[in-house]
Amino acid sequence: MTRVRFPDNFLWGAATAAYQIEGSPLADGAGPSIWQRFSHDPRLMANKGDTGDVACDHYNRMESDVALMKALGLKAYRFSVNWGRVLPEGTGRVNEAGLAFYERLVDTLLANGIEPLCTLFHWDLPAALDDRGGWLNRDSADWFADYARVMFERLDGRVKKWVTLNEPWVVTDGGYLHGALAPGHRNMFEAPIASHNLMRAHGAAVKVYREVGAHEIGLVVNIEPKYPATDSDADRAATARADAYMNRQYLDPAMLGSYPAELKDIFGEAWPDWPAEDMALIRQPLDFVGINYYTRNVVTADGSWPLNAGPVRQNATYTETGWEVFPQGLTDLLVWFRDRYGDTPLYITENGAAFYDPPQAEDGRVQDPLRVSYLKKHFAAISDAIARGVDVRGYMLWSLFDNLEWSLGYSKRFGMVHVDYATLERTPKDSARFYTTVIESNGAVLNE
Ligand code: BGC
Repeated sequence: MTRVRFPDNFLWGAATAAYQIEGSPLADGAGPSIWQRFSHDPRLMANKGDTGDVACDHYNRMESDVALMKALGLKAYRFSVNWGRVLPEGTGRVNEAGLAFYERLVDTLLANGIEPLCTLFHWDLPAALDDRGGWLNRDSADWFADYARVMFERLDGRVKKWVTLNEPWVVTDGGYLHGALAPGHRNMFEAPIASHNLMRAHGAAVKVYREVGAHEIGLVVNIEPKYPATDSDADRAATARADAYMNRQYLDPAMLGSYPAELKDIFGEAWPDWPAEDMALIRQPLDFVGINYYTRNVVTADGSWPLNAGPVRQNATYTETGWEVFPQGLTDLLVWFRDRYGDTPLYITENGAAFYDPPQAEDGRVQDPLRVSYLKKHFAAISDAIARGVDVRGYMLWSLFDNLEWSLGYSKRFGMVHVDYATLERTPKDSARFYTTVIESNGAVLNE
């Protein structure tokens, strides 16, 4: 086996998102988000009855949670801001009490030597903005830029790494095409518009950052490499379409200023011709790109529209969310990114797995060998990409805690820290203890 190596100063951390862990979504003057609405509608949640009302109660336990991060040895923590805590109506009036929560979080992280990575939008759009059309309204780019300005003006400097959007593909595929996620629409004419406005919002926020910020800003995308099921022309063409839809739809405009041609074939008349000035707005120089990686897709021409995902494969391990464990895909996509888009610094901003967590042993230990094995293989995959010259600078494990897995509620546990939802007690799993040794040794322990 090749030796695993990471650069000095590799940023080892963990990630969460506001609605998934905070709880108290309406506290201290916050405005409701689309996830508040969605989770309270029993017709919409797959895991009915689960909401973010309490979640991990991080809003009330922030100090002790940061102490736990420090005890685990984390060097960085990626969190997201609930827009509606800061701007309850989405635009206009700033709610100081909501903003104060994030200021305290950042200050506490810094006091504990943990670098904050702040994501401005991880899916919890203020409901007041959804009432105005949400991401279907072209004004959404300005709403987002105004909100971003408030955050930059208050926190830039204390926060040195900013993320505009988390996973625009999931927002549009889940929220506007398939309806499994908030706001729950199913409309193929809406999906391209929502996507495009999200990317305009990203560009507009980066522009504001260049005026008022002095550090680093990037975009986070989820990439699932696509592999053809066979060598046939039909499977290969379907693979290119799936890749254009899920991966290049966001990276091409952000990095190259154009959309992949396949999108016109996929969406037909639902895919508009976008104005050149929009494309110029979207393509802003970025300081880094964040990549979330969970799995790959094997594609066949007769798979279902628009991803053409093929059948479940034999002889593979699948996680509790039904995703194939495929570490090689992470190496492949990192090399692909560098070859296609150039040398932009990369962070793995999410990677992890939901596995069945056995009940806690009598001594309180939570054993999660499948997660430990998943992590080991993915660390090696990143090291392989680094050895091939890809500039990967950090890794944020998804997730710090078991948390609300969106419409699947609390049924899927991604945490390296177990959360007992009855008592809210936190218990680091074996994977967390293992991760601590990885961080302490900068990965050297993986060679033992
Ligand atoms: C999201 C997380 C989510 C995770 C696991 C990513 O798509 O950013 O919020 O919990 O995947 O599904």
